Amino acid sequence: MAEPLVLGIETSCDETGVALVRGNELLVDAVASSMEEHARYGGIIPEVASRAHLEAMIPTIQKALGEADVDLSEVDAVAVTAGPGLVGPLTIGASAAKALSIGLNKPLYGVNHVIGHACVDQLVDGPLPERAMALVVSGGHSSLLMVNDIATDVTELGSTLDDAAGEAFDKVGRLLGLPYPGGPHIDRLAREGDPTAIRFPRGLTAAKDQAKHAYDFSFSGLKTAVARWVEARTDAGQAIPVHDVAASFAEAVADVLTAKTIAACHKHGVDTLVIGGGFSANSQLREMAAKRCAEAGIDLRIPPIRYCTDNGAMIAALGSAVLRAGVAPSSLDIPVDSSMPLTTITV
Ligand code: KG4
Ligand code: ZN
Repeated sequence: MAEPLVLGIETSCDETGVALVRGNELLVDAVASSMEEHARYGGIIPEVASRAHLEAMIPTIQKALGEADVDLSEVDAVAVTAGPGLVGPLTIGASAAKALSIGLNKPLYGVNHVIGHACVDQLVDGPLPERAMALVVSGGHSSLLMVNDIATDVTELGSTLDDAAGEAFDKVGRLLGLPYPGGPHIDRLAREGDPTAIRFPRGLTAAKDQAKHAYDFSFSGLKTAVARWVEARTDAGQAIPVHDVAASFAEAVADVLTAKTIAACHKHGVDTLVIGGGFSANSQLREMAAKRCAEAGIDLRIPPIRYCTDNGAMIAALGSAVLRAGVAPSSLDIPVDSSMPLTTITV
């Protein structure tokens, strides 16, 4: 018998994502984004994102069904992001998913967005091995997850105590006068700079942090160090070597992310690492992770970037995984949870 067909809906931030997954096979991944509306504010405005989700939801569902040539009646289950994310946007997606679940009389699975970022890799690189490490890095999250079973057993080893990696890039981008979001601009500048030009601090890597924060991240001190460095140069009337600043900053972020992640792989005896989230587009992180994983004998899996940014495929993939694992469906009165714990896979 064919695997069940799962429709996934993602609305935790600015992307309205709708996808259809059967087993680990992606049939279609449709996405609408309201990023252009937010760019002029220099950040996501939740109300603007919610309204955009409301307007884009039905057209995006229709687009997905049309492209896959699937009738809504063929859908066996509906998966939706229940958190973490922005409450207003999450509510629009959850409402749509509940309505579909009732209308189709098919089970609903409210799932965790961050775990979805790791799970989507299964659609590209095949089933995850029994134990894998996942580093999920984006504008909203920087988390290190121990994945014992993507459908039933995930533990959080660490996360950022302040800014997410992408958020730190966006903030440094702002102080260097780059357009929002600054991450990709810094990446581009960094490629032409000297990563060893300036030694910026590596947060939570001191010996004293090993006991409590071995796998946690902190990027706000780094961001402040960059700001102070730029300020001091500006006050002295000197030009800012933006390429070197960008490269040295990007190097510090990539260094901490990869060093802690690989240490966690060693500690837990894991030899597969999945990197997901929009920040995994970052060249410096990709290069350093590839080099260090090869040296450490770790199999590195990074899906193509369109599956790393927020999308419906990651939610359909996780819905499909939990359904196949026999996890009970969600009740139709589930709330959304802006700070859903990363150990909660379904609600
Ligand atoms: O996953 P995503 O699309 O949205 C969420 O934040 O959930 O991630 C976007 C974040 C932004 O902060 C953006 O600046 C950053 O990832 N980003 C990058 C790069 N591409 C995207 N940061 C550094 N280098 C990049 N190439
Ligand atoms: Zn995300």
